[in-house]
Amino acid sequence: MRHLLSIGDLSKAEIEAILDRAESFAEVGRRDIKKVPTLRGRTVVTLFYESSTRTSSSFELAAKRLSADLVSVKAAGSSVDKGESLKDTVATLSAYEPAAIVIRHPHAGAAQLVANWADASVVNAGDGKHEHPSQALLDVYTLRRRLGSLEGKRIWIVGDVLHSRVARSNLIAFRTMGAELTVCGPPALIPRGLEQLGCAVTHSLDGLGEADVVYALRLQRERMRESFVPSLREYAAHFQIDSRRLGPRQLLMHPGPVNRGVELSGEAIDSPQSLIAEQVASGLVVPWSLLVIVVLVGLGVSALAGIYPARVAARQSIVTGLKGFE
Ligand code: CP
Repeated sequence: MRHLLSIGDLSKAEIEAILDRAESFAEVGRRDIKKVPTLRGRTVVTLFYESSTRTSSSFELAAKRLSADLVSVKAAGSSVDKGESLKDTVATLSAYEPAAIVIRHPHAGAAQLVANWADASVVNAGDGKHEHPSQALLDVYTLRRRLGSLEGKRIWIVGDVLHSRVARSNLIAFRTMGAELTVCGPPALIPRGLEQLGCAVTHSLDGLGEADVVYALRLQRERMRESFVPSLREYAAHFQIDSRRLGPRQLLMHPGPVNRGVELSGEAIDSPQSLIAEQVASGLVVPWSLLVIVVLVGLGVSALAGIYPARVAARQSIVTGLKGFE
């Protein structure tokens, strides 16, 4: 696994190996000094053409905790404002010989293009409406910690699926991990033929009580070119997850940012069933694990000797952990 472009590129065993490695970084995160030398001397570039709080900050912090040199570029305020193309921007940043580029871009397929142009390992941090594979991994990680296994668990994904890269990646990831999936939302916000991804589709919350996990999605008004819902009030009346609709044994998730009072009520967000804060915490250790794997695989296992000159045991454990990704 030199790049992470689509969650569909990973098998169940590969997802589990990434998450097992994330567990070991969770232990490092509980130490006083939350830093390891794994990527010392390597450069990580984060390149964000769209707004982000969670994903950008989690990859930046993960790179720092791995002792990498971090170059953080946001399109706003960079030479992109002066008309520089994605290809020229990648060529410019490639001059720093990054080991990894983490990219978010409004166009589907942008991460794949960067992987074609750059020598670095590339992590797709969200490309248009296409995919958000690191979000899917951190959501599986969060559920695995709570439920042990996703096998046979019933997960409902509710809301604006049409504009959601998270929905696409999570449907693939949850199905790969053995969950039973239902997608729910107004017909205008559910893509045609979605059942081909192995889920049931419904336009009513009537059967929500069967769900073990309710995964709510943001109404992405910034991506809507026309009116997809009659009004926010009407949308909330039919599809908002609130304390009336959320049962005490059900878990609630949302990738953030939340439109408070639209897809989720304030009470539901702050309820004991809500895993939203845990998702953000998982959002640190999963990028930590991902950067290690893609960078070390990208460098080739022989390059590990340069990273751990005096730590044969540590090197051996990483090599063992990387089996299956090379
Ligand atoms: N979930 C997610 O991608 O959040 P950000 O847009 O804040 O990164």
